Amino acid sequence: MTKILVTGSLGQIGSELVPALRARYGVEKVVATDIRPPEEVTIDGPYAVLNVTEANDWEEVLAKDQFDTIIHLAAILSARGEMKPLQTWDINMTGTMHALEAARAYGMKIFAPSSIAVFGMGTPKTMTPSYTVMRPQTMYGVTKVAMELLFDYYYHKFGVDTRSLRFPGIISYRTPPGGGTTDYAVEMIREAVKRGHYTSFVGPETQLDFMYMPDAISAMIALIEAESDRLKHRNAYNVTAMRFTPEMLGREIKRHLPDFTWDYAVDPLRQRIADSWPDAVDPADAVAEWGFKTSYDLSRMVEDMIRALKTSQEHAPAHM
Ligand code: SER
Repeated sequence: MTKILVTGSLGQIGSELVPALRARYGVEKVVATDIRPPEEVTIDGPYAVLNVTEANDWEEVLAKDQFDTIIHLAAILSARGEMKPLQTWDINMTGTMHALEAARAYGMKIFAPSSIAVFGMGTPKTMTPSYTVMRPQTMYGVTKVAMELLFDYYYHKFGVDTRSLRFPGIISYRTPPGGGTTDYAVEMIREAVKRGHYTSFVGPETQLDFMYMPDAISAMIALIEAESDRLKHRNAYNVTAMRFTPEMLGREIKRHLPDFTWDYAVDPLRQRIADSWPDAVDPADAVAEWGFKTSYDLSRMVEDMIRALKTSQEHAPAHM
């Protein structure tokens, strides 16, 4: 690999993917971009401002370096997307089209995460296969289906090396997720460590797929590095590491923090979104075609999250 351009670098995934890529390929080989001005950003290594909806920003960034790979992360997630559906269409789709056009014009490989949000009405709820009914009920899901189809189109029509996988809820401690439905899981663990209590906005028996960030990072790198001719389901692969309900997560946290308590104040919007997604997707195609594997199940993930959050709390400056 010569050089990688990452959009949405300051988000939940980008803030951990960029350091991982820099450790693997070299600091100068990875240009991090996001919408925030450089003076507001603390990031080691090359950084540029890139509003993914602005053609001028793309031109400027692409003129400065020769890239061979784009990792396009910038997107509005499911719950926030329902507050501003038109803006979500604009950011997610205009951003994707600029990224695809850049990949086509400069002969770059392009990767972007899709999501379990592509699924909806008529999708099998359990062991959901990669290729199945996709009738999402959120604007976020609509934009991710459109992205997958465009990725296929650019591959077949223009020979662009497009790749994508469908993430479930991603759990991590470094940068909190924003505006998603699966965010409850991250919040529950954070609040358990911080305050010992959490009120969940999705109901007790709502089961969804999840993955811990280190597994999400390895999966992205494995798919990006995979031999192109092995990728039969290139847009997109289901991936998952665990599935649980808020009740199951609460009980697992309680094993480490016995005083932890939780209750529910269900938010109808986010509950409806969660109910429209599968209970358990099948990652078999990812396993078969590029060796997808995971290291963290529910119990290892919760243990590691609590340890990391406690450590960062101990090192946080004391309140006056
Ligand atoms: N974590 C995402 C969301 O909730 C799913 O891709 O919206």
